[in-house]
Amino acid sequence: MQKIYIAGGQPLKGTVRISGAKNAALAIISAALLASEPVILDNIPNITDVRILLDIVTKLGAKVAYQDETTVEISTPDCIDTNTPYQEVKKLRASNLLLGSLLARFHRAEIALPGGCNIGSRPMDLHIKGLQALGASINLEHGFIKGTCKRLTGSKVYLDFPSVGATENIMVAAALAEGQTILENVAKEPEIVDLANFLNSMGAKIRGAGTDVIKIEGVSQLGGGRYSVIPDRIEAGTFMVAAAATRGDLLIDHVIPTHIEPLIAKLREANVNVSEEDDAVRVIGTDELKPIDIKTLPYPGFPTDMQSQMMAMLTSVKGTSVIVENVFENRLQVADEFKRMGARIKVESRTAIIQGVNKLQGAQVKASDLRAGAALIIAGLIAEGETEICNTHYIDRGYENIEEKLVSVGARIRRA
Ligand code: EPZ
Repeated sequence: MQKIYIAGGQPLKGTVRISGAKNAALAIISAALLASEPVILDNIPNITDVRILLDIVTKLGAKVAYQDETTVEISTPDCIDTNTPYQEVKKLRASNLLLGSLLARFHRAEIALPGGCNIGSRPMDLHIKGLQALGASINLEHGFIKGTCKRLTGSKVYLDFPSVGATENIMVAAALAEGQTILENVAKEPEIVDLANFLNSMGAKIRGAGTDVIKIEGVSQLGGGRYSVIPDRIEAGTFMVAAAATRGDLLIDHVIPTHIEPLIAKLREANVNVSEEDDAVRVIGTDELKPIDIKTLPYPGFPTDMQSQMMAMLTSVKGTSVIVENVFENRLQVADEFKRMGARIKVESRTAIIQGVNKLQGAQVKASDLRAGAALIIAGLIAEGETEICNTHYIDRGYENIEEKLVSVGARIRRA
């Protein structure tokens, strides 16, 4: 079992380059199965989740070839297996995004119902309701979602909650459906826009991604092409918070500033100096950080994926900060690990009340999910003494070479 060791107290200084967006890459790789010709994807992050998904689509019969570290070619023949094995799916919830593309092109799909994970129950009712509206017949049998359909037909679908995954699955399915689909109350995350742009680059007809209503004119088939995935706004945000928390001076390069507006606004409210450039942001932490209140919401609200990282920073900001987690029902548990490091946090249901302390103390802690792991790294960077983090596999799911990137800007971090 690998562990990460951090000796705290070093401000981060220098430049770090952000990798491609995990949550865009996973959706786009799943959607690539729609294409009848080869698809080349650039700026694919070299992370565990991506490798697992590429492994799943290979097992289904697609041809996957890396052209270099971050460029991968995917060719999907007209007939592939459509049963994703439970062993794989339980490793990667995002394999549920295959449902839409397998149904749309192959008219069959069998996906193991992804188990819950540490941040919540992760239901799929909205995915299923939307795909049924397009004409798929879907049953739950022995822990598997089994779907079959003739050619899907366009329909009007209203999402009870702007679910990112449900929006992606239904949009992908509608791309090859007969006729028009109107999707309402959809997720507006930048990854949804990236997926729509990718699909349109292959011949789909999708309008309105990024707004509350997406209109899709179904086409009979999609061609191939080449597409570059957007930078990862959550990786960027994680480094921004690390720079602010360590009172450093960091240039985060290869980002799209508009994608991180919610975070920039909150950091400025905490008295962090943030300046935006074309495709970079510079973050300078000051000694007088201010306590703030945060509510996580669907985009363009404050992203739930940045909540634990902000909590790490706020543990040592004088005063009282309040975080309300509105998206996932169980995503405040990293507070228990921070308390082992001396933080003063009171968690009641979806609310965490943080009383800033002078200094966290290094301790042995464990990551419970991907973003909690990243938050523990930030806590280790500002703690006095050494912090030892276990369950580092969670961190590797979504962060490419995180130690190398941190060492390059002055952190004393190693993995053993
Ligand atoms: C995506 O998960 C991301 N994952 C998550 O990132 C991210 O936290 C989340 O969107 C919210 O932004 C990927 O893109 C691979 P949701 P997803 O469907 O699609 C409820 C990370 O750390 N819901 O928007 O699963 C659900 O219970 C990961 O990178 C239903 O009720 O998120 C939750 O409370 C973590 N029924 C809320 O919606 C459904 O059918 C948000 O879930 C689907 C969802």
